[in-house]
Parts: sequence; C-alpha cells; structure tokens
Amino acid sequence: MSSFFTSSIGKKTLLSVSGFFLITFLCVHLTANLMLLVESKEGPKGAVFNEVCHFMASNPVVKVIEPVLALGFALHIVLASWLTLQNRAARPVKYARSEQSGNAAWTSRNMYILGALILVFLLIHLWNFWWRIKIADDVPKIGDTEMDDTYALVSGLFKESFLYCLLYILGGILLGLHLSHGFGSAFQSVGLSNRVWRKRLKFLGYLFAIVIGTGFSIIPLYFMLGFGN
Ligand code: HEM
Repeated sequence: MSSFFTSSIGKKTLLSVSGFFLITFLCVHLTANLMLLVESKEGPKGAVFNEVCHFMASNPVVKVIEPVLALGFALHIVLASWLTLQNRAARPVKYARSEQSGNAAWTSRNMYILGALILVFLLIHLWNFWWRIKIADDVPKIGDTEMDDTYALVSGLFKESFLYCLLYILGGILLGLHLSHGFGSAFQSVGLSNRVWRKRLKFLGYLFAIVIGTGFSIIPLYFMLGFGN
C-alpha cells in the first residue's frame, strides 16, 4: 500500500484528491466572499458578509476543517513539487512543442509555475486578512460586540490600494488558468474519465475556471470602481 503512494500514479492520485478538496474549499470561499457585494435591507453595509464570517469563525465544524485545509494545501504543494522534479529528472530534454499548441497546452505545461505564483498570492492574501483576524487580532469590532468588522478590513484594503486590487484580480486570473487544466486532469487521474467524458470534462473545467476566476476578480473590481462606498 505504501509503495502505491510513493509511485508516480499514487502521487498523481493523491494530488488530484487534494485538488478536489481545494476545489470544494474554493466554492465555499467564493460563495462567502460574494456576500461582500450583497447589501442587507435592515443592517449597515457589509452586515451580510460580517454575519457569514462570524458564523464561519464560531462554527465548530469549520474550526476542525481549518487545519485539514492547511494540510490539503501542503499535500498539494509537496506532491506537485515532487512529481515535477521527478518528471524533469526523467525527461531532461524537453518534448518538441509541435504537437502541443494553443491555450490548453500552455496551461498544462505551466501548471507548476502557475501553482507557485498562486502560492505567492496566497501568502500575501493570508497576511492581509487571516493573519490580522486570527493572529494579530487588530480588526475593528462591530459596535460594543466582540464581532469582527471583516467587511471594513476587506473593503478598506481594496478601497485604499489600487495595487492590491490589481494583485487580487491577477490572483483570480492565475487561479482560473490553473483550474482550466487542473479540473479535468484531476478527474482523469482518478480514473473518472473516458473518451466521451474527456471532452465534457474539458468543457466543464473551462466553465468552472471562468466562474471561479471571474468570481474572485469581480470583488476587487467592485471596490475599485467605487461600488463599495
Ligand atoms: C477577492 C478575493 C478574496 C477575498 C476577498 C478573500 C477573503 C478572505 C478573508 C476575509 C479571509 C479570512 C477569513 C477568516 O479567517 O475569518 C480569507 C482566508 C483565506 N483565503 Fe481568501 N479571499 C479571496 C481570495 C482567495 C483565493 C483566490 C484563495 C486561494 C487561492 C484564498 C484562500 C484563502 C485561504 C486558504 C484562507 C485561510 C482559511 C480561512 O480562513 O478560511 N482566498 N480570505
């Protein structure tokens, strides 16, 4: 069994399983973040987003999932690095480019560099928000309550910094490109693909990549264009 996980196919399977887990996280994270754009009829601006963040921060299930999420990211990064190094060692001379062309070929050839750039984005992102909420604990509170005004933290960053807006838009685009190949490839690696489904999964992968990439990018764009005022 242990030799399966150290074999190339085992590592690829685990890479895909961790990818599916991260895809699920991205769907939940994007849904929660889109609440930044939703206005409550009664409450002040950002009330809906703050309620969602408070629910996430106080929910025991989310507390258990957080370290699992960190492990999921770590596993995905370690396995991707291991497989990339292994492939490079096995194939020191690059394949001729002739049979691979277009955007799909570009993303599949550059999955590792796209992943590395997303990691850089993620580290900056965690420092912007997660660190301030969970470690520094210097986020403004709502009224006399102990509830964080996470809306003020996020909207403040985007309203104050054009550069951060661009960085987050770029982060969404990089993630979209990574997913446009990763989504279909993950199904293929775990054996959930055949000749008919390969094309469908490719299409679904593009669709998913567009939804996730656009979804994350429109948030900074919304504040950049002055809608969050
Ligand atoms: C407009 C884009 C985004 C916004 C506004 C946003 C917002 C946030 C906020 C407010 C937190 C802190 C949550 C808390 O600890 O209470 C957070 C955490 C986190 N974000 Fe994002 N995020 C964005 C994009 C992304 C992207 C693209 C990724 C993945 C590549 C990502 C991955 C994470 C992770 C791993 C955490 C830490 C886990 C957690 O606290 O849930 N975020 N994000």
